[in-house]
Amino acid sequence: MNFIIGANWKMYGTVPKASDFLEELLALGSRSVRSDLVLFAPFTLLPLIGETAAAAGIELGGQDLFWEDEGAFTGEVSPGMLREAGATWFLAGHSERRHVIGESDGTVRKKLSKGLQRGLKGILCVGELLEEREAGRTEEVVKGQIRSALEGLETASAENLVIAYEPVWAIGTGLTATPGEAQRMHSLIREWVEGIRGVAFASGLRIQYGGSVKPDNAGDILSRPSVNGALVGGASLRSDSFWAIVRSVPDGE
Ligand code: PGA
Repeated sequence: MNFIIGANWKMYGTVPKASDFLEELLALGSRSVRSDLVLFAPFTLLPLIGETAAAAGIELGGQDLFWEDEGAFTGEVSPGMLREAGATWFLAGHSERRHVIGESDGTVRKKLSKGLQRGLKGILCVGELLEEREAGRTEEVVKGQIRSALEGLETASAENLVIAYEPVWAIGTGLTATPGEAQRMHSLIREWVEGIRGVAFASGLRIQYGGSVKPDNAGDILSRPSVNGALVGGASLRSDSFWAIVRSVPDGE
């Protein structure tokens, strides 16, 4: 299975910056890597960078979406709008949506379900808060997030769904789970998914790690079994550091 490396730009970036980033990646050789590369840019950039992204062999994704096709939902963006803007991917349940904006597991489920139903590929983000970790509740929290998102979700397959395990205390903080901890959680996630959706789904599923992935720790994290990619925030804002992470994918992948 191909690794998948995502660049989550959050609320950063301009059209010229995104165009430069994509052109630099093309020059560095982005078309020649086997990994799937996806740029989650702010909505407003997407329709304006499609050609440059396609030339660089990089897919585009929305950082969020809404669970209706249209209607009186001021400020929201539908899956169809995302597709029209050139996105093929979306994020569901990023920790900043869950914990800064206040999205519940139920909201994340509705978004994931609708996005997949409308033909987009989704990355379901899961992860525990520091206080949950300190209270020994990591497994319960992450398992609950996965169950709520995936139980009975017939539209999800190993082809259109990726899970990103992102411990919230590691996002944007410079702290990371040790590669061993990441591996342990990834194996558990695969087991839980197997329990919900069966062995074929679970063994084909790609699980990314996210949370302060940088050029100097990416190689160690990405070489662990059960880690099939990374979701990168801060270090994805520059083409050189993002490229160094892409190049850290183990040989042969
Ligand atoms: P970070 O962000 O790499 O800056 O920690 C990761 C993410 O938010 O997906």
